[in-house]
Amino acid sequence: MNYKLVDMKVFGDERGKLVSLEGGKNVPFEIKRVYYIFDTLPEQARGMHAHKNMEQIIVAMDGSCQFVLDDGNKQEKIWLNSPDKGLYIGKNMWREMRHFSYGCKLMVLASDYYDEKEYIRNYDEFLKEVNNDSSSI
Ligand code: TYD
Repeated sequence: MNYKLVDMKVFGDERGKLVSLEGGKNVPFEIKRVYYIFDTLPEQARGMHAHKNMEQIIVAMDGSCQFVLDDGNKQEKIWLNSPDKGLYIGKNMWREMRHFSYGCKLMVLASDYYDEKEYIRNYDEFLKEVNNDSSSI
């Protein structure tokens, strides 16, 4: 499974807490794009796609949601529920985000610019893509 939940270093004192993310250092790619998701609803799932090449780090800045991660062979579910955790998702991973808490805000750091051609939004196509990948080795 090409994902990892990372505990990020937190600088904290009596004033509050701070996390610093640096491309090529504690983020394992150069950051080309940042986007964020807000005004989500518990019953409205998002995602349902994979990326052919893109890598991402996702942080729940506020609230929580569940990620269903799928590499074409197995599925794992994890909760993202703290701004000191970063979910790294590599290429060829199908993801669904669901069970958003009200007011949940996700920040996403991405290794590349937005390119719709780089998305796989059809699950059967995703299965073909990952199976081709392993048979070509
Ligand atoms: P979508 O991929 O459906 O979001 P999610 O992965 O959360 O389900 O994206 C919603 C819309 O925003 C869609 O029309 C594509 C557009 N979009 C951009 O224009 N730029 C971006 O960087 C992203 C992530 C999405």
